[in-house]
Amino acid sequence: MGLVGLSTTNERDHQPDWPVESEVRRARAALARSAPLVPASDIRLLRARLAEPAFLLHAGDCAETFRDNTRQSVANRVSLLRGISDAIELKSGRSVVTVGRIAGQYAKPRSAPVEQRAGLALPSYFGDAVNDADFSPGKRAADPWNMVRAHEQSRKTLTYLSDSGVFTSHEALLLDYEQPQTRRSADEGRLYDHSAHLLWIGERTRSLTGPHVAFAAEIANPIAVKIGPGATPADLMALHAVLNPDNIPGRLAFIFRMGRRRAYDLVYAMLSRMVAEGWVDRVVCDPMHGNTVVSPAGVKTRVVGDIESELRAFFGACNDTGVVPGGIHLEVSGDDVSECVATQVNDTYLATNYRSVCDPRLNPVQAAYLGQVVGELLVPHREFSAWLEVAMSHR
Ligand code: PEP
Ligand code: CO
Repeated sequence: MGLVGLSTTNERDHQPDWPVESEVRRARAALARSAPLVPASDIRLLRARLAEPAFLLHAGDCAETFRDNTRQSVANRVSLLRGISDAIELKSGRSVVTVGRIAGQYAKPRSAPVEQRAGLALPSYFGDAVNDADFSPGKRAADPWNMVRAHEQSRKTLTYLSDSGVFTSHEALLLDYEQPQTRRSADEGRLYDHSAHLLWIGERTRSLTGPHVAFAAEIANPIAVKIGPGATPADLMALHAVLNPDNIPGRLAFIFRMGRRRAYDLVYAMLSRMVAEGWVDRVVCDPMHGNTVVSPAGVKTRVVGDIESELRAFFGACNDTGVVPGGIHLEVSGDDVSECVATQVNDTYLATNYRSVCDPRLNPVQAAYLGQVVGELLVPHREFSAWLEVAMSHR
């Protein structure tokens, strides 16, 4: 039971332990009746863009919140994403596809099901689609109607996003949210999850025998999978076999989040296997999630220098295996937050404007800097990608 028993999620699959089963059924039915958030034609368009040799910028909040879902906040996020994409394009000569962690990033897997503060233990925060970040008993109870609220909020964000050229994505974690939005298209008979253009599977839920991989295998959206340091090339092979058995470009991306120290060796091993097998899957670097540290005052943060190191390690592994780097995955805010530090962890700085309800995000200055770094790292691939674009246009 969410409120009383503290176990708000079942720990294996990270699904909420909703307090009242009949309410879950009603909330699911409401989602099943809703008009699609994104049409199948736009999902197919993203798949087609990802089948090209363009570079992927995949970025946004760790967790969106209903509170920050304002026109101004969305405009700030879009202008940041577009700014980084343009900078990478300009520097590298490679076209960029921009996908936000936006318009639906409302569900979070957590490593601990319970949070303790000053002697009080409450369920952890699992994203606004499940419960509320405020640390009080009533707010931390799981409520299935939060999924319906998340859906309404996502529709609102999409109205702010129209004409921005930014595709949407979120972690496909909450199956009670994703399944009712999955429908068969009348024209080609394929299943599409209409909650976002791209869905990803998190590091904690990528088990081959788990429900998330099975769900992703059924739908025709582009899929990404986070790959952490515990994965082996054999795991990657099995995921490819389930999620992209026909080896189709644009279908699958692997997002490596290894941590800066081991990133080069681990990514090198994965890419070598991919080359040997002849896979077309996109390879993306998430330099954020393997580099989280806790400050002396107990605040989660990340050092921009560490993030840069993992990016460099990833691009090095791509260079040395001859694999085209497929993109980057960042947690960013459109506002001037103080959640990541330049080089030194500094609690005084962190306290000035720390707003994230989950992981620490780059502010626009930090994100723009890393965009410049990536643009430069892509330059050695410029000739090759120009050749590839010509080759692809003659297919
Ligand atoms: C995230 O992207 O916020 C996340 C939880 O990542 P991962 O699954 O890689 O830990
Ligand atoms: Co995160």
